[in-house]
Amino acid sequence: MNCEATKCQCGCDQETDQQKYEKIAEIIAKYKNQAGSLIQVLHAAQNIYGYLPLELQRFIAAGMDKPLAEVSGVITFYSFFSTQPKGKHTIRVCMGTACYVRGGKKLVDRLEDILKVQVGETTEDRKYTLDIARCIGACGLAPAMMIDDVVYKQVNPDKLETILAKY
Ligand code: FES
Repeated sequence: MNCEATKCQCGCDQETDQQKYEKIAEIIAKYKNQAGSLIQVLHAAQNIYGYLPLELQRFIAAGMDKPLAEVSGVITFYSFFSTQPKGKHTIRVCMGTACYVRGGKKLVDRLEDILKVQVGETTEDRKYTLDIARCIGACGLAPAMMIDDVVYKQVNPDKLETILAKY
């Protein structure tokens, strides 16, 4: 999709990069002088932009008067920050103990095969991001996984394609 400075050429309602950066700039201005607010700003920026590419990290570093290395260091340290674009849907396969012993790894292997990505990656069509989780509260019905907010319990690897077809 090609976006001009203020209006998306495809006519959709999606915000342009410029609009997203303007929102992020407002958040930076709001938190800039609050000690320890970098994580909060990064969270908000990721919510708005979807992920935190280097260019955006530079923008935040400059706005917060911090070295780029500090901003990048925080992003690398916390697993909930991503420097890669996320898919429309996020699949999280539980690899907590109960799910692991009941076949969680098989689900991951099968999903990697079906989607042709590794854990942490996004499919080429940006439809799915594959991730793992550490217990999603369904241990009694392991192995479990989530797609966005929906929990799937006792998942059979042979049923994965049917589950994905719903999306
Ligand atoms: S270990 Fe998977 S839901 Fe708890």
